[in-house]
Amino acid sequence: MNYYTPDLVPLHGPDYAADPHAVYARLRQYGPIAPVEISPGVPAYLITDYQAALDLLKDTDTWSKDPRIWQATLPVDSPVLPMMQWRPNALFNDGDVHDRYRSVITDSFSLVEPHHLRHQVAQAADQLIREFAATGEADLVTQYARPLPLVVFNALFGMPDHYSPRLVAALAGMFDSAGPEEATKANADFEQYVMELVALKHGQRGHDLTSWFMDHPAGLSPEELVHQIVLTMAAGHEPTTNLISNALSRMLSNPDYYSTLSSGSLTARDAINDVLRSEPPMANYSAHFPRFNVRFHGTWIHANQLVLVSYAAANTAPDGLPTDSSRTDGGAHLAFGGAGPHVCPAKQPALLIATAAIERLTSHLCDLELTTPRDQLSWRPGPFHRALAHLPARFTPVTPDQAGVTPWTSPSSSTRPEATSRQKPLTSESTAPHPA
Ligand code: HEM
Repeated sequence: MNYYTPDLVPLHGPDYAADPHAVYARLRQYGPIAPVEISPGVPAYLITDYQAALDLLKDTDTWSKDPRIWQATLPVDSPVLPMMQWRPNALFNDGDVHDRYRSVITDSFSLVEPHHLRHQVAQAADQLIREFAATGEADLVTQYARPLPLVVFNALFGMPDHYSPRLVAALAGMFDSAGPEEATKANADFEQYVMELVALKHGQRGHDLTSWFMDHPAGLSPEELVHQIVLTMAAGHEPTTNLISNALSRMLSNPDYYSTLSSGSLTARDAINDVLRSEPPMANYSAHFPRFNVRFHGTWIHANQLVLVSYAAANTAPDGLPTDSSRTDGGAHLAFGGAGPHVCPAKQPALLIATAAIERLTSHLCDLELTTPRDQLSWRPGPFHRALAHLPARFTPVTPDQAGVTPWTSPSSSTRPEATSRQKPLTSESTAPHPA
């Protein structure tokens, strides 16, 4: 039973980052499931077929999310461990344990009113746009799409606004660290931020996700609480950043979008749907491990071997989604994890954040244009994400003394969020697991 061929296709190098769809075309020659390497010396199977992806995601009898037996085979400093190693959170557990953790996240997000969230996104957007609006140029990844979800999370989790630069700096340090020392410091800064957040809310509950996590009937232990907060922020940050920046890069480089920013038919939501389908923010994830040796879509896989789902390849498989370009709903794409118990629990808030962030930016800076053509933009290497490294753009500068609605004068800055949302109590009914 030979299950790894020596011909592992690398997903970690510059070739994959430069042209992932060329790599998916090569992988499809193996059939629905192909042998890949996600880091030097770390093999995996990658599902590139839409139906095979759904079959795996729905079959919890065969497939587990618990990586502990597999991760014991890796060196302790393996670069894939931060994304893959077991923790007591919703992502890495099955069954009742998973349901309990997940109910805390879904029930708490269900208390976030959409108009309250939209207000928080507008506030975060204006705060970030004010920092570069007068200069006439910006890197829309590092100065907008990457910090924005964190500024929003800082508010959603109930931290005072002046804490958000610390959260942004810590996570930026993790992405851009020059070496392991800087990365370790950034990690420590993030941990410190979460500890202070929890301490603050222990002292005084508020109308925020942290307080709802704490008071949830699931009764999380202090350790479990920290892990669900870290998971929610970490799982929410990277894909939302990529959703915003990948969609902006399409809007600003395609006349069908940019000539219609003020008057036309294609919208931010169209660009987002385009991204979800053909350039998903998480390209490959849903790490699963078979509980026993299994023959899956023609390939024998040993118990506890790593199998990943390529949402990007499955969405674009020749016999996958309908290719009717007039569809604006994105079709049944797998970008949010497709199906099964681990499908993204925050799909609606994520779509709201991305749409509102793009609309706010393009309404304040209505003549935005890229300074590097989209086909020359650089993408961050890595097996899991589809992430622009930078998105340089220019626009007519906007200044604080200018007439009209600007990031300094927006009406939203004077509206108190507390006045726009209502709190529902967490009851046993609201703690029942419900679909995302
Ligand atoms: C507000 C923003 C977001 C939050 C708070 C969030 C949170 C989460 C959480 C907690 C999970 C784990 C659920 C579980 O295991 O039961 C998850 C899963 C997932 N999310 Fe999101 N998410 C956000 C945005 C996004 C976006 C924008 C995308 C991509 C378009 C995305 C794609 C996914 C995928 C693919 C999974 C499945 C991962 C796996 O099973 O390995 N998420 N998300």
